[in-house]
Amino acid sequence: MTLRFPSNLLQTFLALIFLVISHSSIAQANEATNLQVLPVDIPDRALRALMIENLSGLGLPRLQGEGCLFCHEGDMDLPRSEWDFAADSKLNKRKAREMMAMVQDINTRLAGLEQRVAPNLRVTCATCHAGRTDPRPLQQVLLGTHADDGIGATIEHYRNLRQRYYGGDAYDFRINSLISVATSLAIGGALEDAIAISQLNEEIFEPSTTAQSFTLTLQIEQAIQSDGLNAGLAYFDARYDSAEPNTISWNVLDGLGWQYFRTNRQDAALQIFRKNQAQFPNDYIPNESLGDALWNSGNREQGLAMFEAWLASHPDHTTASRRLAGLLSENQ
Ligand code: HEC
Ligand code: HEC
Repeated sequence: MTLRFPSNLLQTFLALIFLVISHSSIAQANEATNLQVLPVDIPDRALRALMIENLSGLGLPRLQGEGCLFCHEGDMDLPRSEWDFAADSKLNKRKAREMMAMVQDINTRLAGLEQRVAPNLRVTCATCHAGRTDPRPLQQVLLGTHADDGIGATIEHYRNLRQRYYGGDAYDFRINSLISVATSLAIGGALEDAIAISQLNEEIFEPSTTAQSFTLTLQIEQAIQSDGLNAGLAYFDARYDSAEPNTISWNVLDGLGWQYFRTNRQDAALQIFRKNQAQFPNDYIPNESLGDALWNSGNREQGLAMFEAWLASHPDHTTASRRLAGLLSENQ
């Protein structure tokens, strides 16, 4: 009780002060000479508050105004009174001005919505920048580093970003981010580097069968590219035989098979699906994938036979019986 009373009193007092300042002529005029987006008569206090919002939205250091120099002309060795806040010499300031105009425009449009969330949400720099100057998502940042400086720099950049930003909302460090980077690299032909990224993912998320399976898929693809399909499938066998039981599942060859199927390499896809079904005959998906792939590549009878065989040994399997019924109705 004794603590609560004075702190309530303090809050009321502060609220009153704020009211007086913001609604009276006490609000100090600014001394700005080069405002092009903000209202020229914006009170000094509001101008400062917006500039602080720029800082925090972009994750710039506030101490001694160092972050202001990201946009403004000045020097940490000079007193702040000698900094030139009006100058437009820095590209970042000119870009930031466009950003401020854009943010105003967004908020004006939001204000015109028929119904709004309560309390109203205002878009600020932080909405997109989330505490970083470069708003690109993690995947794009890393692919940019890869294009400019190669795989070693990319891995180092990832580690640094994770060290600095993990736990905040600036970057998405979940497992799919590096999988997506590795996928882009693989599609671009940089398979070796894709594998290195996927191995980094394994290290970060150890133990993760998702990350491990993805690396294995890329390694099989690498074996196929250098020595042909049979070499790739043999690589799978070797890894399967030496792995702990149940650590390598049907999803490795299933994913690879569909990748081949989608990119018009149907014969190879069918071989991969056949192999997967032979390896995991008691799992439904390898049977379904082989059945679907056969059906979709024109081997309709063989496709139907896959589902019929599965249902003969699993008569209560509703997914399979729906699938079969669907194919039969298409067949008419
Ligand atoms: C991300 C870029 C950015 C950062 C960081 C930033 N500002 Fe600004 N500042 C601007 C822009 C853009 C304008 C001009 C706005 C306009 O044209 O309406 C401006 C205008 C000003 C002005 C008015 C200058 C004049 O005479 O026209 C002052 C003063 C100012 N900023 C102070 C600060 C201070 C102090 C900080 C650090 C706490 C800071 N700014 C941080 C972008 C920034
Ligand atoms: C709607 C999303 C969005 C909002 C809100 C936003 N930005 Fe940006 N900002 C971007 C994007 C996207 C880029 C990259 C633009 C490009 O170069 O193509 C960017 C780039 C910038 C850059 C250039 C960074 C560099 O390294 O080149 C600055 C500075 C910047 N923003 C400042 C701000 C400030 C200050 C605010 C708040 C007033 C703000 N932004 C609000 C999306 C946003």
